[in-house]
Amino acid sequence: MGAASMDKRTIITGIGHYVPPRVVTNFDLEKLMDTSDEWIRQRSGIIERRHVELGVGSSDLAVEAARRAIADSGSRTSDIDLIIAATLSPDHYFPGIGVLVQAKLDLPPIGAIDVRNQCSGFIYALSIGDQYIRTGAYKKILLVAAEVQSTNLNYSDEGRDMAVLFGDGAGALILEPNEHNDGRGILSTHLFADGRHVTDLWMEKPGCLDKPAVTEEMVRTKKFFPRMDGKNVFKNASVKMPEAVRAALQHNGLTVEDVALLIPHQANDRISQMVAHNLKIPLEKVMRNISKYGNTTAASIPIALHEALQEGRIKPGDVVALTSFGSGYTWASALIRW
Ligand code: ACO
Repeated sequence: MGAASMDKRTIITGIGHYVPPRVVTNFDLEKLMDTSDEWIRQRSGIIERRHVELGVGSSDLAVEAARRAIADSGSRTSDIDLIIAATLSPDHYFPGIGVLVQAKLDLPPIGAIDVRNQCSGFIYALSIGDQYIRTGAYKKILLVAAEVQSTNLNYSDEGRDMAVLFGDGAGALILEPNEHNDGRGILSTHLFADGRHVTDLWMEKPGCLDKPAVTEEMVRTKKFFPRMDGKNVFKNASVKMPEAVRAALQHNGLTVEDVALLIPHQANDRISQMVAHNLKIPLEKVMRNISKYGNTTAASIPIALHEALQEGRIKPGDVVALTSFGSGYTWASALIRW
């Protein structure tokens, strides 16, 4: 492609989200484990989350969100030329959900990329889509982020630190080049990782280190449930997300005052408040919807972005900052001029 097309920024021409209808409140969880609505609200800001019915996969949530994003953009499905799908909870160990989304939406045999960067999965996927649009390689990318967490959490006292935090949901975007070159679009994306902290937040088993991959010992010791060092995750998330936003602002010659809305990954409302405090961004400029959905991992930012748009919190020309932190560790940021 010529140099002119290289200058075109990526714009979001459609967005949608979907959460399963079943609401699970903190009071519902009180019946399963030694926890309380008060503890959960105080420590995380979560009041309720959504859980799928058994048999509904991340790909199913992704498809619903994708249908809405496609309709919102006014696109024909036949014009979509690439799928990028982010999840840590795929329907199967392999293949990823990208191909399932393709088949369920009856899309042509276009490429389907799967991204596995947990809570940072959405921004990592966005960064990939942005590069492909900027270079002119693809013209209409479907980006989906979807999670079903509820089927693999330990809903007993042992797993209460994790089980209360997570929920199911999906968000989707359509990415296209800005043909008008009017300055709107993704300004930049910034990715970071530090693999020394793998064990702070992980689902250790099953994996290829055992033969066969699933063993009785693993089931007995419940190592197939995700585990987390909550304090370390909290500490690092509160510092790394502001760092990532600052890197993005500096890269674009902008300051915190230029940000109209900050959308942090909805990990825990206390973390979001710490991020805002650290950046000196007033809470009115921070999108916070974790009370309704819990932490939906890769899906949390696109769900929050869509709700912010629906609530009229983003106006044309606004600079929106996205940031995430999660397992890996991985963290990331993106700036978008709307
Ligand atoms: N209900 C009641 N008590 C609980 C629960 C629960 N659901 N879970 C843990 N506890 C208990 C613990 O057993 C512990 O008890 P003990 O002191 O008798 O050992 C006590 O609560 C821990 O209390 P605090 O130290 O006050 O807990 P803390 O303030 O650290 O909060 C939490 C725990 C919420 C997990 C916090 O560390 C946290 O939010 N960490 C970040 C984790 C996170 O958000 N992860 C999301 C995934 S990663 C990401 O998306 C960035």
